Amino acid sequence: MEFFVSTASASRQRTDCAIVGVYDKGVLSAAAEDLDARIGGRIAKLVKRGDLRGKTGDALLLADLPGAPVERVIVLGLGNRSAFKRKQYRKALASALALLSKTGARDAISYLGLDEIADADAYTQARVAVEAVAASQYRIPDHKTSNKRPKPSLTKFGLAVASRGDKGQAERGLAHGEAIVSGMAFMRDLANQPANVCTPSYLARAAKNLAKDYKKLNVRVLNEAECKRLGMGSFLSVTNGSEEPAAFIVFEYYGAERSQAPVVLVGKAVTFDTGGISLKPPAAMDEMKFDMSGGASVFGTMKAVAELELPINVIGVVPACENMPSGRATKPGDIVKSMSGQTIEVLNTDAEGRLILCDAITYSRRFKPEVVIDLATLTGACVIALGNHLSGLFSNDDELAAELKAAGDRADDRAWHMPIGEEYGEQLKSNFADFANVAGREGGAITAACFLAKFTDGLRWAHLDIAGTAYQAGANKGSTGRPVPLLVDYLINKK
Ligand code: BES
Ligand code: MN
Ligand code: ZN
Repeated sequence: MEFFVSTASASRQRTDCAIVGVYDKGVLSAAAEDLDARIGGRIAKLVKRGDLRGKTGDALLLADLPGAPVERVIVLGLGNRSAFKRKQYRKALASALALLSKTGARDAISYLGLDEIADADAYTQARVAVEAVAASQYRIPDHKTSNKRPKPSLTKFGLAVASRGDKGQAERGLAHGEAIVSGMAFMRDLANQPANVCTPSYLARAAKNLAKDYKKLNVRVLNEAECKRLGMGSFLSVTNGSEEPAAFIVFEYYGAERSQAPVVLVGKAVTFDTGGISLKPPAAMDEMKFDMSGGASVFGTMKAVAELELPINVIGVVPACENMPSGRATKPGDIVKSMSGQTIEVLNTDAEGRLILCDAITYSRRFKPEVVIDLATLTGACVIALGNHLSGLFSNDDELAAELKAAGDRADDRAWHMPIGEEYGEQLKSNFADFANVAGREGGAITAACFLAKFTDGLRWAHLDIAGTAYQAGANKGSTGRPVPLLVDYLINKK
């Protein structure tokens, strides 16, 4: 896919498809008006006839227009002019692209941003446009033997901006958008694979292949013996029941002086979570192939960072394993020793994410990080609390939490700042070890975060629980690519 920015007007530019809008009550956008002058007032006529009211979601395809420099025109209903903001812009683009994908158009230009959009400057418009195009073109790497969906014919997408001054900003937005969507697609491809394909070894190979593409990106993979030597008893206790070897994957990206403290991203990659001996019920258990989404989001973010050659240092730490029941599996009541030295009573083997993350957080200390951010499909409780719209954001540093929340807001990949605190941490007490790995049903997302917090002394740390946001269930089952947009936005804007 090729993206470009244009300052030419709709009436003067050749394209397979021009995308223009009409607000409600039949008010033509500036671009629609401009184009309409060249095509004999067809759009105004449609409005007059009542065929086009400008309601949000309306979309009409006009073709064979006499005198027009364009092969086709998509006229979109944009709703109320003053309510047309970034959210509506995103939606309008999505419906234009859905309609466009049914045509043979190979290139298209959107003129939707020529009227000012209150909360989307040229930079943001461009980023949103790239995301919309990528969303419409993404295909799951499925294993279907027939009914392959045809390849999209669209290969070039343009964005019209009002002034030359906006052009540079829009081009920057396109570049950022392209890196974000390539990171998202990388994450989605990994997460959408079934667990018999996407094993810890598969992830290790994917990481090594990724590093081959970028000079500043390096990867190291520790095997189980090496993890054992480092004292990762907690991580290794989760993989006990599995026949698949675990892999501890470490990305190192140096875009700045080595002396500059890095951001460490830690991602949970349980390639399948059966619950272990605390076996999950069968309903929707297939979705636990997505339990490596946190790790996959680190892969996607590392790719985007390397693509943009950001002038910062970023480390990615991805503990990868399966959580399986077997004669060798960890049992409820077993006590394990974490890399930090603290002992943990495993009261529920289904609370395995925190057991692999705690050792990965401890490992990350060797990089003397400026911040550590972990990403994990950690708790069903977080989905109950926030649904599928917002990720749960926890931190021992309010400033860091605010920065991450702002990044999520800008990227339309939102998170909500949740509390942590000693009151919750106390629920983890154990008669047999330093603490237990579970603390009852109440506040489950918070007590999970408080478990992790026990390993973050002296670190600036944040945790994103993405159990509700990393993938969709139901008819559109699949990985969403979140929280790659939030993370990349945070890293782009990092001071
Ligand atoms: N991977 C799950 C969390 C999860 C649940 C993600 C639903 C996405 C959808 C995690 O390993 C888990 O099983 N957590 C338990 C924790 C409990 C035993 C304290 C949970 O949420 O039930
Ligand atoms: Mn689990
Ligand atoms: Zn899990």
